[in-house]
Amino acid sequence: MVSQQAAATVRLKVRRGAAGDAAPARYDYFEVPREDGMVVLNAIHYIQSHLDPSLNARWNCKAGRCGSCSAEINGRPRLMCKTPVDSIEGEIVVEPMSAFPLISDLVTDVTENWKVAAMIPPFTPKTPNSREWRFYQQDVDRSREFRKCIECFLCQDVCHVVREHEADYVGPRWVVKAASLDMHPMDSVNRAKFMKDVGGLGYCNITKCCQEICPEHIVITDDAIIPEKERVVDRHYDPILWVYRRLSKRVPKGEQVENGVMKALKVAFWGLLMAPVVIVPLLYLVMAFLR
Ligand code: SF4
Ligand code: SF4
Ligand code: FES
Repeated sequence: MVSQQAAATVRLKVRRGAAGDAAPARYDYFEVPREDGMVVLNAIHYIQSHLDPSLNARWNCKAGRCGSCSAEINGRPRLMCKTPVDSIEGEIVVEPMSAFPLISDLVTDVTENWKVAAMIPPFTPKTPNSREWRFYQQDVDRSREFRKCIECFLCQDVCHVVREHEADYVGPRWVVKAASLDMHPMDSVNRAKFMKDVGGLGYCNITKCCQEICPEHIVITDDAIIPEKERVVDRHYDPILWVYRRLSKRVPKGEQVENGVMKALKVAFWGLLMAPVVIVPLLYLVMAFLR
């Protein structure tokens, strides 16, 4: 519980500094009058209006819809406009998202995300636009969850692969995007090759941190990342499906990936298939000889 004295004000510790500053980043401390229903963004606005107009913060809707006010609050990536000050005991520490380059104070440069967005193979309908599209509600329901994304990039911020490793991994937001396209009933593109070779999906080790912090409660890991990983495995590492596709000619030859793993799987598969043809006669001969 918040004490009577603390209830009157909210104490904030806000990280300050801009890209290119000669001085290292610092923390400024502010006392803001506490109000009923107050969220962290209200406190930031109070600081800007009454205490320090030079504090930079990005926001737009103040309703959890635009995804602009993302920050790290007491070390956890959250929307400032959806974080009640009463939900935090003691001092509230507000910092910019650390996965992205800093612009100023709480504002970061998320441009990299738009570059990744442009790389993802776009929606490609199965039939010409002039023909009627007909599909079922359950087909729509599957990818509807992903369309709730507000592009706050909190999941990108919390992902340790995006944040700490210089791996070529597009990050959870963009796996969600690819999944929403792959699961569209009228889409004709399989993005497995892109996710494997360019998207770096293999780097995700399913820690589910992204899923836990998504403000839209998108079940990122279970509903998007794992199905996308399964697509990659089906497409590139399952020898039975590979044979099936080759026999049914469902995959143009140019799309086959001839990497070392695939070749090894092919050798293993054909080896296992051919073994009885060689081993059974050999055993027969040996037994005949021993008799
Ligand atoms: S998936 Fe969730 S956390 Fe990630 S950008 Fe979209 S809304 Fe934000
Ligand atoms: S589940 Fe994967 S994408 Fe999500 S935070 Fe963990 S490593 Fe990153
Ligand atoms: S201001 Fe729009 S999501 Fe917070």
